[in-house]
Amino acid sequence: MSSAAPSSRLLALLRGRGAALVLTGAGVSSESGIATFRDAGGVWEGTDRMRVATPRAFAADPEFVWRFYDARRAQAARAEPNLAHRAIAAIEATGRPFLLATQNVDGLHERAGSRSLVNLHGSLWSLRCTVEGTEHEDRRPQLDPLPPRCAACGAMLRPAVVWFEESLPMIEFARAERAAREADLALVVGTSSLVYPAASLQSAALEAGAYVVEINPERTPFSAAASEHLAGPAGVVLPALLAAAGIPMDRAA
Ligand code: APR
Repeated sequence: MSSAAPSSRLLALLRGRGAALVLTGAGVSSESGIATFRDAGGVWEGTDRMRVATPRAFAADPEFVWRFYDARRAQAARAEPNLAHRAIAAIEATGRPFLLATQNVDGLHERAGSRSLVNLHGSLWSLRCTVEGTEHEDRRPQLDPLPPRCAACGAMLRPAVVWFEESLPMIEFARAERAAREADLALVVGTSSLVYPAASLQSAALEAGAYVVEINPERTPFSAAASEHLAGPAGVVLPALLAAAGIPMDRAA
């Protein structure tokens, strides 16, 4: 059942010290002005994902792919973390066992102060050498020239994000799976729960006995299974939830 008001069970779990897992998707960054992928006006409405987000697309036209990701880097650099990002960092700051597993590649969680986190789909701010496989951080808002080249071997660099038809980074996914098995409370925030294997984590937490709360203005394929669905924008629902549970917002990690 969808509601805007948290249950007393959820508030008790939030006030407790039990292990918490937070799973996030693009909806968390939408209030920072970054479009989601599948909503009206979303990224995949205007762009054919098969032309920008697969290894074959990169092989066929790396410059085209890089223009897409360079624009996304510039947009993410201009954006600011919103209250949803800050609330998630504040839950971590309570000192309970905690993991944030995000599908987002924009880096806004880190900028909001999150530390115990795994990037399931990589990061816009990491570049990978297509020959050596080495990765390095590059936070310049815009890259020049495109495609960028590896300083060590001169080969082309690619964005270190997970494209369709690619597998998730194993260590990060294993950490998230473990946190799902050990969580007492899991919050599923701003994701359509359509893209696997990331979308398997909320079910894994549920099966392991966690209380799993979905926060999303819309219902998703996971809503019926969720322990609770809080209907509304994350930047509104999460701060209200923390206030109701007596968790200060400003003590980010
Ligand atoms: N607060 C909470 N949820 C929101 C908000 C908001 N302010 N605005 C939108 N949403 C919800 C939408 O209702 C939708 O369910 O966020 C979800 C966004 O879904 P998608 O666009 O499918 O994004 P996501 O689930 O992160 O996509 C998963 O797919 O395209 C790939 O690699 C990409 O990581 C991405 C993955």
